[in-house]
This record gives sequence, structure tokens and C-alpha cells, in this order.
Amino acid sequence: MSAIIKTPELIEKMRIAGKLAAQVLEMIGEHVKVGVTTDELNTLCHNYIVDVQGCIPAPLNYGYPPFPKSVCTSVNHVICHGIPDDKPLKNGDSVNIDVTVIKDGVHGDTSKMFFVGEPNIQAKRLAKVTQECLYKAIEIVKPGCRLGDIGEVIQKHAEAASYSVVRDFCGHGIGEGFHEEPQIVHYGKAGTGEELKAGMCFTIEPMINAGTYRLKVLKDQWTAVTKDRKLSAQWEHTLLVTENGVEVLTLRNDEDFPRVISH
Ligand code: MF3
Ligand code: CO
Ligand code: CO
Repeated sequence: MSAIIKTPELIEKMRIAGKLAAQVLEMIGEHVKVGVTTDELNTLCHNYIVDVQGCIPAPLNYGYPPFPKSVCTSVNHVICHGIPDDKPLKNGDSVNIDVTVIKDGVHGDTSKMFFVGEPNIQAKRLAKVTQECLYKAIEIVKPGCRLGDIGEVIQKHAEAASYSVVRDFCGHGIGEGFHEEPQIVHYGKAGTGEELKAGMCFTIEPMINAGTYRLKVLKDQWTAVTKDRKLSAQWEHTLLVTENGVEVLTLRNDEDFPRVISH
């Protein structure tokens, strides 16, 4: 219940951080191909974030045990928090790259699904439905919208496609903190939960599974995988609640979606 209402000065910084995070995803796309390792993708992102953008990669050394890399790369049945490694990507893999940059003391957090080589039909369908979940949720964001409204829209769309919504990870308030209040869960009942107010910034980042929503965290204490080893997908945007709608702070050039929605 203690979501931070951002000042106009902070909001301007959030716009910049959000745009920079989006630009990392725009940059990395052409490098995601058969044979590249997620470590190599991590290095490309790290150097771009640090040397080109003058930003800090927020995941590096975050949490406990400290996350060892600068982006998360979650391949196939990895739900989230995949650690970049030296294993080459292969034809048909799908990978979520999750980028969080810090610029001028504020965070921009966003992720996108990429496909390696020839598209896998199942992975494409799952990723499409998951992106639709994100977009449908963004479309209802405005002052007075309740957190349960967001959860219900996502859950209904995922379950209509006979997919499941991950329960154990959620979206979050964001700003000077990486993970601020409130928690944005991706399932629930309309008309319940906290009301959104103008000036709040938060992420929506649904993780949708082809099979069960149940998960397992590997011994590295980060990598979350589906319990049934079926595919998972995720997309994430950082949002600002405006007086009459929402602004997508991390919108990319490759998206066919409005940056600002006014109701
Ligand atoms: N970017 C993730 C999120 O969307 C968090 C990653 S934490 C890390 O909230 F340590 F794994 F990087
Ligand atoms: Co996030
Ligand atoms: Co993220």
C-alpha cells in the first residue's frame, strides 16, 4: 500500500531510463542466432549499457547470492532469471532477454522474446499469447484501475489459450528502487486489490507456461524452470500511470503498440 508517486523530475528520468532499456533490446536482436552463446549476448549487452549508454546494468551483483551477469537470458523451459552461460543457442530455441538499466539513479526494466533460427510453431504461439496478455493488461491501466483487474485480464487470456500463469514471480513498482511496492501479480479477480494512482510507475511482466505453472529453482538459486519442462514465455514493460491512462516507458521501435494511451 506504499507505492511511490513519482515527481515530475523523477518521471522525466524514468522516461530516459525506459528508452535506454528498450534500446538494448533493439540492439541485441540481430545477434540472437544459431551458435551464439547467452554469455556472448550478455557481454554485448553489458558493453553497450556501460560504454555506449553510460548506464549501470542493474542485475549484475543484485540480490543474494549476487546475480553474476548483466542481463537475464531465459531459454525454452526457463521461466525467468536464467544466467547467461557458454552453451550455444540452437535452431528452434526461444529466449527471453530481460534488461534493466540504471540511469541517473532510476531504473528501466523490460524484456522480449527472441527466436533462434527457424521458428518453432509452439514457441511462437506461446510468445504471441503472452505478449497479448501484456498488451491487454497495459490497455486497462489508468487511475482507479485495481491490481486485480490487471491480474484477471492476463489470467483470462492465458487460460483461454489453455496456458497457465506463473504465480511465484510478479511485476513490481520501480523507480529509484529496482523492486518497489506494490507487487503486480498476473492472476486474480477484477475489483480487488490496490487502486492505481497517477504518478505510479510499475512493471507488468507476465510469465506464461505451456503446461503447469509450477516451477523449480535450480541449485544456482536463480534459474526458475517449469516443473514439467514445458515451454515458458515472458514479456515485460515499465509503465507510468498518467492522469487519464498509461505511458509505456520501455516501448521499442519494433512494436505495433501506442506509447501513450488516453481514456
Ligand atoms: N529484471 C527482472 C525483473 O523483471 C529481475 C532480475 S533480478 C536478477 O524484475 F538479479 F536476476 F537480475
Ligand atoms: Co521487472
Ligand atoms: Co525485468
